[in-house]
Parts: sequence; structure tokens; C-alpha cells
Amino acid sequence: MGYAIAEAAVETGHDVVLISGPVNLTPPCGAKFVLVSTSDEMFDAVHQHADKSDVCILCAAVADYRPANISPTKIKKRGERFSLELIRTRDILDSLGRQPDRQFLLIGFAAETNHVEENAAQKLREKNCDIIIANDVSSTKSGMESDVNEVTILFQNGAPQKISRAPKKIIARELVKIFTKFATKMFDKKNVTITETQLSEVIPNSSPFPRIAD
Ligand code: C5P
Repeated sequence: MGYAIAEAAVETGHDVVLISGPVNLTPPCGAKFVLVSTSDEMFDAVHQHADKSDVCILCAAVADYRPANISPTKIKKRGERFSLELIRTRDILDSLGRQPDRQFLLIGFAAETNHVEENAAQKLREKNCDIIIANDVSSTKSGMESDVNEVTILFQNGAPQKISRAPKKIIARELVKIFTKFATKMFDKKNVTITETQLSEVIPNSSPFPRIAD
């Protein structure tokens, strides 16, 4: 979805920075592209751009754990079983949500297989974002690794809004419209940042978001 949102945002005239891990997709023309390969690199890249943005959209399915140690040399096989110690990665969305004087619209994604809206609503509260996009990934016919999707948009205040099954490009255009409208009500800064499993995007100085009351 991140690449589709980046494309839709470029199409509507935003300046976009797309921060992505290695994926088998071509970044949209017109977006600034930042390639990262670890969750720490994505964390740093997102934080570098977030405060200059009007909107940050975090779509990336960032790994929840990473190896505690990295071997500079080949690890030789030993025994029938082998365990790797894993430690938690830093949660990028959560870290942005905790910024006390945040001046950008913060949007997260919640890929869920059951109790989709309930779990997404919990993430919206816990990670303190403004909007969360609930994505049912229990079906192989939409969601991840598919060109189609269906989503429910949850807001901190207000009724959820559904976008029914459609190509990701169409869903992305609808989402960009909704985010732009929402941001117009909140901020007048000049940038937008979006992230996904392996990507984030930033829209800089030309976004038309007017200021509203603090
Ligand atoms: O808790 P969960 O991983 O399901 O939350 C999904 C949301 O959190 C997505 O917006 C994802 O981009 C973001 N996330 C993150 N950093 C992580 C893990 C998830 O920003 N380390």
C-alpha cells in the first residue's frame, strides 16, 4: 500500500519521500526515495523527515524482533537444533505518537487476521496516532502480496469509514483524499511522511494544507 499511496500523493501534486526496505516494486517517479535495510535505519530515516512533514503514514510491516548479535563470519552448523536470540525492534509509529509537541498528522496501519477493528482501535489508542487503517490480512485474495485490498479507516474521534475491495491504486487515491482533508483541518506545515513495511514517504514544501487552530 505504501508504494500505491506514494504514487497517489505524487499524482496529486505532493512532494513525496518514500523510505523503503528492499522490495520488488519500482518507486514512483517524482518521489524522493530512501532505501533502508534494517528497522534501525528506517527508524532514523523516518525521524529525520517526520518533523518537516505535515503527514506521516507508516505502512511498513516492520519486524517486531531482530537478532541480538550479528556474526561477522559464517555461523557453522552445530547439532540438530539451533536457536537465535531475538530482541525487540524499536516501534517507529509508537515513538512518533509519543512526541509531546507533534506537529504532523500521524497515520498507522494495522494488519490483522481476527477481531480486525477491535485490534486496530486498540493500536490507535496505544500508539497515539490520529488515524489507523485496519487491514484484514486473513484472506490471500487481498492485502499483502496482492494488488487489491479493502480497508477500514478508524479515527480518534468519529465513525469508522470503509473502503470496499478495490485495486490498491484506487484505495490509495481515496486514502490520500481523506488524509489531505483531515490534515487541512489540523496543520499548515509543508510536508507529509508515509511509512510501510519497507517504505516511508515524505511530502515536502508544496503541500496545500492550510492552518487551523492549535
Ligand atoms: O503493532 P503492529 O506492528 O501491528 O502495528 C502496525 C503499525 O506499527 C504499522 O503502522 C507499522 O508501520 C508500525 N510499526 C512501526 N515500527 C515497528 C513495528 C510496527 O512503526 N517496529
